[in-house]
Amino acid sequence: MKLTLSVIKADIGGFVGHSDSHPEILGRANECLDKVMESGLLIDYYVTKCGDDLQLIMTHQQGEGSEYIHKFAWDIFVDCTALAKELKLHGAGQDLLTDAFSGNVKGLGPGVAEMEIEEREAETVIIFMADKTSSGAWNMPLYKMFADPFNTIGLVIAPSLHCGFAFDVHDVKEHKRITFNTPEEIYDLLVFIGAPSRYIVNAVYHRDTGEIAAVSSTQRLSMIAGRYVGKDDPVCIVRAQGNFPAVGEILEPFASPVLVEGWMRGSHNGPLMPVSVEDSTPARFDGPPRVIGLGFQLANGRLVGPRDMLADISFNLARQQANEMADMMRRHGPFEPHRLPLEEMEYTTMPDVMEKLRHRFTDIPAD
Ligand code: F6R
Ligand code: MG
Ligand code: MG
Repeated sequence: MKLTLSVIKADIGGFVGHSDSHPEILGRANECLDKVMESGLLIDYYVTKCGDDLQLIMTHQQGEGSEYIHKFAWDIFVDCTALAKELKLHGAGQDLLTDAFSGNVKGLGPGVAEMEIEEREAETVIIFMADKTSSGAWNMPLYKMFADPFNTIGLVIAPSLHCGFAFDVHDVKEHKRITFNTPEEIYDLLVFIGAPSRYIVNAVYHRDTGEIAAVSSTQRLSMIAGRYVGKDDPVCIVRAQGNFPAVGEILEPFASPVLVEGWMRGSHNGPLMPVSVEDSTPARFDGPPRVIGLGFQLANGRLVGPRDMLADISFNLARQQANEMADMMRRHGPFEPHRLPLEEMEYTTMPDVMEKLRHRFTDIPAD
């Protein structure tokens, strides 16, 4: 059967500060989705949080970008924002950049990852969600899962994966897209996705069957708003097993934490720490950035699960390493490379400071 899996998320208010979500907000989102279920528009749903982000995971048959699905997701965010205001949560309605819904939540603030699939006999999916980081944080993990044989041995020894995968990459500044075939174009691919603030892996496809393997949210809040309004805190759906990497190959990139942009005031590089849903509560210096991974089996659209995949003890060492990396980065205080490079600071107060001091800059005489 044709099925759409939609993950739509927004930060509509934090508890406490930007560190977590309030249980009553999750309760309200559940109540709202229960009502939507009565209308028959959804097959199933699951509500969760990653830090201060409210995550709506939904299955239906309305296809990708459905106005119906996006409209009620938007309405739920509006409803939960009202509750967030009652509770005086911090940054209530933070990601809702407009008062008026216009057909699709993309471009209005929330993050979206959706894929329409033909449900397999056993449809294994992992949904990754991150807090305190930006879209583009999935570039390296997706590269490792689908193009790096040191991560995914299936690329070498499993006939179903040996053909390789195609990467659909978005240039979020120029609003252009390009597809790279791996393995033969990995050097070209890496030229671009190695700069994740601009080039973001939007989707990955199986090259033989054309099936969609992964999709990520590419919305960049700062570019939509033209100013800093919190980080994107992206989501990503990955299909597992059979023609796709095994669950363990999909989780493996998160065993070796690397630096991503985000963290305090969205203006710092810091390690992406794999955690359980319960531990997705950025604390130290509003971080370090977190990633959670929920695994489901789909049964005619029913979300069987989740299993909290990154809660496993095999990620304990990664958490330890991420904490040590966090310590090392914090040592730099306001200096790069902890603080983001100048170009990335353009959406913060940096331009205001520059403007204020511009008249005090004088020319240095030539020698
Ligand atoms: C980062 C983040 C936090 C806030 C910081 C200041 O993505 O959400 O680090 O930027 O706590 O928050 P405000 O400006 O809301 O006081
Ligand atoms: Mg927030
Ligand atoms: Mg957040």
